[in-house]
Amino acid sequence: MTDESQIEQHIQDELDDSENQSSNPSANRSFSDVLNKHFTRRKITQGSLAGAATAFVAPAAVASWDDDNQKKKNKWSKAKRNLVDFEPLSLEQATADQSLPTISNDYEYQVIIPWGTPIEPGATEAYLGDPDSRPTSDQASKQVGIGHDGMWFFPEDQNDGKRYGAYGYKMSNRKGMLCVNHEFGSNSHVLGKDAPESLEDVRLAQNVMGVSVVALEKEYKNWNVVSSPNSRRITVNTPMAFSGPAAESPLLQNPNGNIALGTINNCGSGPTPWGTYLTCEENFNGYFGATDGNGGPDQTFTPTEEQARYGFANTGFGYGWEYFDKRFDLNDPDYVNESNRFGWVVEIDPFDATQKPTKRTALGRFKHEAIAITEAKDGRIAAYMGDDQRGDYCYKFVSELPWRDAIAAGKSPLDDGTLYAARFDDDGTGTWLALDVNASDALWQRFNGDQAELLINARIAADIVGATKMDRPEWTTIGRNNSVFWTLTNNNRKDDGQGEVNAANPENPNNNGHIIRTRDGRRGLGTRFKWEIYLLASTTIENPDTAFSAPDAAYADPFGRLFIGTDGGQPLGLQDQVVVFDTRSGEPVPKRLLVGVPSDELTGWATTPDYRTAFVNVQHPGNGSPTATSFPDAFGSNTIPRDATLVITKKDNGIIGS
Ligand code: FEO
Ligand code: CA
Ligand code: CA
Ligand code: CA
Repeated sequence: MTDESQIEQHIQDELDDSENQSSNPSANRSFSDVLNKHFTRRKITQGSLAGAATAFVAPAAVASWDDDNQKKKNKWSKAKRNLVDFEPLSLEQATADQSLPTISNDYEYQVIIPWGTPIEPGATEAYLGDPDSRPTSDQASKQVGIGHDGMWFFPEDQNDGKRYGAYGYKMSNRKGMLCVNHEFGSNSHVLGKDAPESLEDVRLAQNVMGVSVVALEKEYKNWNVVSSPNSRRITVNTPMAFSGPAAESPLLQNPNGNIALGTINNCGSGPTPWGTYLTCEENFNGYFGATDGNGGPDQTFTPTEEQARYGFANTGFGYGWEYFDKRFDLNDPDYVNESNRFGWVVEIDPFDATQKPTKRTALGRFKHEAIAITEAKDGRIAAYMGDDQRGDYCYKFVSELPWRDAIAAGKSPLDDGTLYAARFDDDGTGTWLALDVNASDALWQRFNGDQAELLINARIAADIVGATKMDRPEWTTIGRNNSVFWTLTNNNRKDDGQGEVNAANPENPNNNGHIIRTRDGRRGLGTRFKWEIYLLASTTIENPDTAFSAPDAAYADPFGRLFIGTDGGQPLGLQDQVVVFDTRSGEPVPKRLLVGVPSDELTGWATTPDYRTAFVNVQHPGNGSPTATSFPDAFGSNTIPRDATLVITKKDNGIIGS
């Protein structure tokens, strides 16, 4: 490794691990100090079920995880018989040539929309990875960005209020809008240097982030970017709307009256039943810094209690925007509340490029990883969300109105409802704790009876009600029967007081992460739930066929398959992977579908309505250095590796995962 690539690696490790710092000073403990380091899944499952049988308050919902009320509706009975039967990648195959992604022999992939692709044909020049040049900020604003992460495919004929997903046989499998998050790119990757030297550099760094809305069409076997009035780039400088209980709060206004601009660090995502895209703002704190007015950081900067809880510090993650763009200077009195404008879930209409992306404040402000929505019997929705930091929490939002009624009344189902944080009890049940100023004197007093202030500081509210500290909650996805899978990616340093050993996070250190499955009473509406540890990744790592670590992206399909994308050091010389589980079988066994390239992360997951085409992202390949990969170009071409999307199909045109 050259010095330069070591520095590159170091910077990237810092960025990757920013969630590994904790900013939760609360003394929240879960219910007991269960110092059982070697919990097996079986043990926990048994404990959970035993506990659930006596303690769960909604007996009808305590049935097994697989009572299968979706069976009748399932069109693909053949797929169900052989739920996950592709030939998995052996360790040998998976580690042979790591300069490009490797997929199971039963599958093939096409690479689309690498960083720098014009957002539609002719929009601007393409950036092709020339190590000696970078796009201009203006070009970047018309190109697909970097840091591909969460995404969703919206089939062309869907925007009619119909439910997305399982029964979408009227929707196109060949044409639609792909929404893709651009989480981040390091300065060295994007700018070719460690720090910006001008406002133009900062604008370039800002314009490669945000979201791309790209029109795709399949011609014969190939997916192409095509022109569409719906195509657009949303960046750090795109006008935004605020909606919901905190929209009018003075805490979201600045003394200079600047309008709300931009979305930052767009990590995971989720679709809504009404056909929109939700993008989640994660490590927003890292783009702010406090300057001393002389071009350096303010060494005496002291964050407020609220800023500290969200991890704001004088140099952020070192992006250096604050030196050229005052919006990101925590010391600038004109922009005292700018930092409150980030950390939200943002709703985007993939079929209307004139729509203002809208920050839904009822969902609370934290480091939103991703969001997964389920629908209860009466049409109300429950949205599940993780806050990715060591020792932070799991959340859900329940809408006040059935979503169709809200839409019919011209309201957003996401603007009115109740936000909760999760407490996991040792007996395999848990409670959703309302984050509502009317719920307790403590909340009322802390937030002066102001629900807007509470939502802007949702982490502090969750501290107060006693939510359970978790090992970095990443994605959520809806499994069978309104169950929810949560990835907890890892927590390798619990001994510093951040993160604790508790029944839901039993390992210390938790180097490999785990997956939890929960199920709420009343199909998502209830405030009690049952939970189990679905899998501790540590139990897989010695077996060459199953070894995986650091679960992150998650997608459960309606047939019972669970796709997990990993982000972090994999065992046995593997690169990051997509593994697939049959959640209907007894013991979870990960099967290896795909492996990536050095220093990348495999994330995001979307499919066409027929489930025969899937999209998955290769994020920060090689950390921007061509030393080990020039993905998507061949190794040795020396181009800068670029984030891109893989379009995956089964050679026999089967359903993905089969
Ligand atoms: Fe953006 Fe927690 O991953
Ligand atoms: Ca990551
Ligand atoms: Ca992630
Ligand atoms: Ca991660």
